[in-house]
Amino acid sequence: MKIELIRDLQQWQKVRQSLKGEVGFVPTMGALHTGHASLLKRAREENDVVILSIYVNPTQFNDPKDLEKYPQTLEADLEVARQHGVDYVIAPTYAQIYPDGYRFKVTENQFSNELCGAHRPGHFDGVLTVVMKLFNLVRPMRAYFGEKDFQQLSLIRDMAKTFFMDIDVVPCPTLREADGLAMSSRNVHLAPSDRTKAPRFHDVLVSAKSTEEARDRLQREGFVVDYVEDRENRRLSAVKLGNVRLIDNVER
Ligand code: PAF
Repeated sequence: MKIELIRDLQQWQKVRQSLKGEVGFVPTMGALHTGHASLLKRAREENDVVILSIYVNPTQFNDPKDLEKYPQTLEADLEVARQHGVDYVIAPTYAQIYPDGYRFKVTENQFSNELCGAHRPGHFDGVLTVVMKLFNLVRPMRAYFGEKDFQQLSLIRDMAKTFFMDIDVVPCPTLREADGLAMSSRNVHLAPSDRTKAPRFHDVLVSAKSTEEARDRLQREGFVVDYVEDRENRRLSAVKLGNVRLIDNVER
């Protein structure tokens, strides 16, 4: 099946006007893995038209080195999109997404300052702003997000509700490697010895009796712990292994 890659947002807006039926949207920064593929699969099952966006959004990277080395694999991503029956891929440039040079932004003043937000200043402003722009461009009926980024999912759901956006924000379960490591585009940067150690992150989050115990055990095993916190029925955490930041959360 032919897939259409659209880089120009004016062209996209014309295409969008012509679309009929229920539109499902999967926003990504590319470097697609099986976790993303599961979102596309679900979107394909539930909608008439499926849109994928691939945009590595600079405003959500608080660390320029992280942005620089973020994997970019457009050809392979298009193949994944093709295999999952995506109708359109939009992959705009910075100038198109931010004609204002990021003069306007969406800020949430509470939850976005906690957990990952406490360690990544400005991160969620960047995420919410780009997602708001993408929602306005795509005007989906449903948008699909992974539960691995639990705080992101929660903030986006609240943003859509707060701004009366008629979009169903659909949470999708975290996909894991066979050894339990949550799938992430950043996993490719793990050094081989860190890749061997990385599944312990999930094991400890599941088995520790308290957040203090989880933090101690992770530190003893060589993880640098940003946070481990229990919120409602979840245990959420972020750690660093070498230069790679991993996040995960489990039900409790
Ligand atoms: O989860 C991601 O890949 C990004 O944060 C998102 C939602 C595509 C916004 O850039």
